[in-house]
This record gives sequence, structure tokens and C-alpha cells, in this order.
Amino acid sequence: MNLILLGAPGAGKGTLASYLVEKMGVPSVSTGNILREAIKNNTPLGQKAKQFMDAGQLVPDQLVIDLLKERIAQEDCANGFILDGFPRTIPQAEALDEIAEIDCALSLEVADAVIEGRMTGRRVCLQCGATYHIKANPPQKEGVCDKCGDKLHIRKDDKPDVVQHRLATYHEQTEPLKAYYGNQGKLKSIDGAQGIIQTEQLAVQALGL
Ligand code: AP5
Repeated sequence: MNLILLGAPGAGKGTLASYLVEKMGVPSVSTGNILREAIKNNTPLGQKAKQFMDAGQLVPDQLVIDLLKERIAQEDCANGFILDGFPRTIPQAEALDEIAEIDCALSLEVADAVIEGRMTGRRVCLQCGATYHIKANPPQKEGVCDKCGDKLHIRKDDKPDVVQHRLATYHEQTEPLKAYYGNQGKLKSIDGAQGIIQTEQLAVQALGL
């Protein structure tokens, strides 16, 4: 299955994606993680993306379309993939339609007020991309990644003022994708404001897994 996870920043797309990877046996592709890795390694892509990401703005469409095309052409995506954070604009969705057949866009519905609490408590591993929350999903040892043992960080774009900007960008540029996939008969929506396990169960039901 080729699945898109839609939802506001902090809605839980990455958290659900890591569960669905195991359940569905296909890789998840997070454009945010790919871009953060590029920034960490100071690659030309990272240098172009950094100013946009730090400000909570979307990176220009063509940059992410090119990196996504390259990623899903890799062999591990041949039997399906889960897209986390792509597409985020109508031009990105149109570009995706040219290169892959999408089976479903699953939207995680979470109110903005809930999002703020999730962002302030989020901790991420820059080494392996794992995500934690200090209350909802804490690591076994504070500040240390369970998966790879690296130090956990607060994302620069999780500062409250940047979060507000990201939410506004989501409502303006990404939320219209619900109508886009609704018109294609591919949209499914679940309540993403539940706990992590309940959200996983809702997703399994919605996707018929
Ligand atoms: P990206 O990394 O994609 O960020 P995002 O979409 O803003 O989403 P987040 O990663 O913030 O949240 P999430 O929904 O994955 O939630 P998570 O599971 O972490 O993008 C970052 C930036 O990169 C963008 O702003 C942009 O600049 C650029 N970019 C990326 N893709 C792009 C594109 N296609 N086009 C242009 N620019 C692009 O959960 C959040 C927290 O809540 C965690 O702490 C988690 O533990 C916790 N949590 C999760 N689920 C639950 C739950 N059910 N109950 C309680 N807590 C929960």
C-alpha cells in the first residue's frame, strides 16, 4: 500500500508512521527527517533548507519534490511506502500523482490547542530520527535515545512562536489536501487527539489492516 499521513505539525504522523512500518512491512519516508539529516551534515540541500525550517516555513516545492522522487525510487519502496510530511501543498500532490499511485491519505485530526502541548514536550534523536514525548512517550533514560543511545534534542522549530507559524502554514497550504484526496475518494480521517495506542488502533481499523 502507498499511504500518505496527513495532519498538522505535531499531530503524531511520525509516531504513527513508526508503528505502521512494523505493521505494514513498508518503509516510512519523512521529508522532515531527510531535511534535518541534510542540515546536520551541512549538505547543499541542508544549506538551502535550513533558513526555511528554522522559521517554520515550508521548503520550496521543487526541492522536496526532487528529494522525494529520488527516495521513493529506491528499492525498499518497491512494495509500498508511508509518506510522513509529503505532500504539503497542492503542487506537491500533483507532482506525486505523476510518479506514484496513492492508495489512501489518512488524516490525523488534532485541535491546535492539543498540538502546543505535544510540541513543547517533544524530544528527538538527530542520529536515528526517533521521537519521544516527556510525558506521553518518554525514553527509558531521560535525554537518551532508546534505539541508538544518542543524546535527545529539542527541535528548533518547536519553540512556541515558530509552532504558531507552522500551524498557520498548515491551515493555509496543507489542509486543502484533504479536499484534494477527498475528491479522489482516497481520504480517511481519524481522531488523532487520543493516546498513542488508541490512535494506532483507529488507524488499523481505518486502513483495514
Ligand atoms: P516535519 O518534520 O515533517 O514536521 P511536521 O509535519 O511539522 O510534523 P512534526 O514532525 O512536527 O510532527 P508529527 O506529526 O510527525 O508528530 P510527532 O509524531 O513527532 O517538517 C519540519 C519542517 O521541514 C517543515 O516545517 C518544513 O520547513 C520542512 N518540510 C518537511 N516536509 C516538507 C514538505 N513536504 N514541503 C515543504 N517543506 C517541508 O508527535 C509530536 C509529539 O507528540 C511527540 O513528542 C510525540 O511523542 C507526541 N505524540 C504523538 N502522538 C501522540 C498521541 N497520540 N498522544 C500523545 N502524544 C503524542
